[in-house]
Amino acid sequence: MRLGMIGVGAMGQAIARRLLEKPPWDDLQLYLCDLDISKADRYHDYPNVYFNTDISALTGCDLIILAVKPQGAIPVLQELAKLAVPAIISIVAGITLEELVKFSNTAAIRVMPNTPSLIGEGISVLTYSADVSAYQKEQAKTIFMTLGEVVELEEKFFSVVTALSGAGPAYVYLMIEALIDAACAHGLSRDVAKQLVVSTFIGSAKLVEQSQLHPAILKDQVTSPGGVTISALHVMEQRGLRGILWDAVSQGVAKANDLK
Ligand SMILES: NC(=O)c1ccc[n+]([C@@H]2O[C@H](COP(=O)([O-])OP(=O)(O)OC[C@H]3O[C@@H](n4cnc5c(N)ncnc54)[C@H](OP(=O)(O)O)[C@@H]3O)[C@@H](O)[C@H]2O)c1
Repeated sequence: MRLGMIGVGAMGQAIARRLLEKPPWDDLQLYLCDLDISKADRYHDYPNVYFNTDISALTGCDLIILAVKPQGAIPVLQELAKLAVPAIISIVAGITLEELVKFSNTAAIRVMPNTPSLIGEGISVLTYSADVSAYQKEQAKTIFMTLGEVVELEEKFFSVVTALSGAGPAYVYLMIEALIDAACAHGLSRDVAKQLVVSTFIGSAKLVEQSQLHPAILKDQVTSPGGVTISALHVMEQRGLRGILWDAVSQGVAKANDLK
């Protein structure tokens, strides 16, 4: 498997690292391309990694992952058109399948990953242009399964996906930070507060996943009448936390629609 990648930044590096740590193919050869040659130093220990600053070095790849920022993506797609690769994968936010196919003149797979992919706990949503083969879909799914979970959806859902799972880690980090601060205000050390908050998020999320119960039922199970939980929830409801989250996602969806 000859896999190319253009843009070895935050996301590109995460993908490359996971693929090298847990290679899904015995014959994986990774052709990385970034403007910054100093990034090659990170891959010196891997004989199956070839680093270049010139896109033409990716000629002959079976698949090429595009991981540059949206503003730089179109000229790169036009360069890719000259290589005549079988298919490309783009993780670039806001560039549609139609644009990917038009500018690169090849079959395209559009993906929205998220940053927990750095530790193999991400979730990636995949969508395909009409001419992507079943084999290429399997190759793409295999790549993103090294980063966590994979979901296939129609492209019309990409704006909501971008505002939900793409941006979502930032919402969670903000809530974690706020809860740690609140605990500190009551004298708990930052380290202990972080441990308690992070474990509560991970454990609660796993319980939602594994119990199959509606989150409202799980919430009620923690909430005894006249108790601590209901008095804290009262403040959250009174200040409109549900509405804030709903509006925040809607604003994100609107912004994602603007990017198109
Ligand atoms: N971060 C996220 O949470 C996330 C989630 C989902 C999707 N994405 C998408 O992932 C893409 C990459 O994001 P990122 O955070 O990884 O960005 P980033 O850290 O800026 O990485 C982009 C890399 O591409 C390089 N580059 C730019 N133009 C190039 C060219 N013509 N040829 C070769 N390399 C080039 C950049 O080099 P220089 O620094 O030298 O310019 C940089 O190393 C974005 O399109 C974003 O929408 C990100």
